Amino acid sequence: MHPSSRVLARGLGALLVALAAGGAAQAWDDGSVPFVVSPQEVVHRMLRIAEVGPEDRLIDLGSGDGRVVIGAARRGARGLGVDIDPELVAQARDNAARAGVSDRARFEHRDLFETDLSQASVVTMYLLPEINLKLMPRLLALAPGTRVVSHDWDMGPWLPDETLSVRAPDKPVGGRNGLSYIHLWIVPAQVAGAWRARLDGLGGEWRLRIRQTYQMLDVEADESGRELVVRASRLRGREIKLVVSGLVGGRPMNLLLAGRIDGARIEGLARTFDGQTENERKWIATRVQ
Ligand SMILES: C[S@@+](CC[C@H](N)C(=O)[O-])C[C@H]1O[C@@H](n2cnc3c(N)ncnc32)[C@H](O)[C@@H]1O
Repeated sequence: MHPSSRVLARGLGALLVALAAGGAAQAWDDGSVPFVVSPQEVVHRMLRIAEVGPEDRLIDLGSGDGRVVIGAARRGARGLGVDIDPELVAQARDNAARAGVSDRARFEHRDLFETDLSQASVVTMYLLPEINLKLMPRLLALAPGTRVVSHDWDMGPWLPDETLSVRAPDKPVGGRNGLSYIHLWIVPAQVAGAWRARLDGLGGEWRLRIRQTYQMLDVEADESGRELVVRASRLRGREIKLVVSGLVGGRPMNLLLAGRIDGARIEGLARTFDGQTENERKWIATRVQ
């Protein structure tokens, strides 16, 4: 059978399996991922949720007919699509040429598990849950701030930073309730451990103890041994935010600390409010060895 007929026949097979399974997209019998396109509206929203722009290098893992990479190139980014099926790689190259973006949209015949992701600022995929889980350790090891977007499938214990649902009536297979799900993760910096912090011209030394599960933080803080209440914390790539209240420099205060993590150092601005005056001052934290 000609390879493209095989893809089509497999596509029909996947459709039938998917319908039999009540609409959930399925792997082939050998566990591999079938070729099913993401509807254009879904592609548009995947690129938008990741805020893809001219500074970005996007890699689509299993690029099919190239639509995600071509969409990224249209937004000025440079994109690479890899696919295990050489016919689809050729088709994607033709589509990029027709769209006039061949200079920014490259396609390679390659196994996604053998693809170097280290240069990507955005990684996209429409694969299967078990493949996402296999990829997860490599994605978590990418530079903090790298955006990962998956159509429909999540990443098990690594919860998404954002999820949106898109009406996808023209979706060939899969989807639940006529919807596509788009998940976004921002690769978190490693911030777990003990830190010492100081606010410019206010109070004494702070100790921070941070426990981290992916991007979720559990933070304890004190100033010179007096406990501070950390009401909320957020980690997005290298950016950390903490909402803190307690006695600082002997005065009751609410603080919003925003900082950027750079290895063993965090630097940022703290907005302080003592009930009467609001101030902004620098804060710096260093990791305790
Ligand atoms: C569901 S399609 C998604 C296509 C495209 N990314 C989109 O969203 O329209 C999955 C693609 O992954 C490709 N694929 C499956 N296993 C792969 C592997 N191990 N390495 C590279 N590509 C693979 C398939 O050939 C197929 O084109």
